Amino acid sequence: MDSHLDELIKILRLAYSGELAAAYAYRGHWHSVKDEATRARIREIEEEEWHHRRLVGRMLEEVGAKPNRAREFRAVVIGRTLGVMCHVAGWLLPMYGAGKLESRNINEYETAARHAARSGRAEFVDCLLAMAEVEWEHEKYFRACLAGHKLGARIPLWPLPAPKETIRATYNFELGTIPERSNLNGDEFAFESDRA
Ligand SMILES: [Fe+2]
Ligand SMILES: [Fe+2]
Repeated sequence: MDSHLDELIKILRLAYSGELAAAYAYRGHWHSVKDEATRARIREIEEEEWHHRRLVGRMLEEVGAKPNRAREFRAVVIGRTLGVMCHVAGWLLPMYGAGKLESRNINEYETAARHAARSGRAEFVDCLLAMAEVEWEHEKYFRACLAGHKLGARIPLWPLPAPKETIRATYNFELGTIPERSNLNGDEFAFESDRA
């Protein structure tokens, strides 16, 4: 059980700083694109990454862990650098990088959900799976952008993620439980300690 908690904390710390880097990178990304609809969607994705960071931050607090300071610093540097690079890297590269990164994020939250369940933190499960689903939508968006681009449509991409429904279906299959729906969309997401 302890090793699952250790693994959970490890992923949460990675994700917490990862969301920070992603949010800054997307901020530069949406500023760098001209198309209004694309700008709006990437801006929304930036907001969703900030939201994830708040939720993951709450989970870290709940388990009594702190973010990794060195990694936080690195995330700011990397995120801001990528954000600036979006202005000079052209259209294709940031889209590709974003999509590839998102495909990894799906998996990261799915794995965290399993460690949460196995370390007695069932109340995190729905929130973690819902974040995996949001990352799935992000990956889908960037994949579609590339597919609609003359050159982007011809470059080989990372493996296609399994259908969105499989995120909860495989969890239920492996863990034999259906996670309760939580109030993810509000920042007032309630954990056990809030109800006490
Ligand atoms: Fe995220
Ligand atoms: Fe994302």
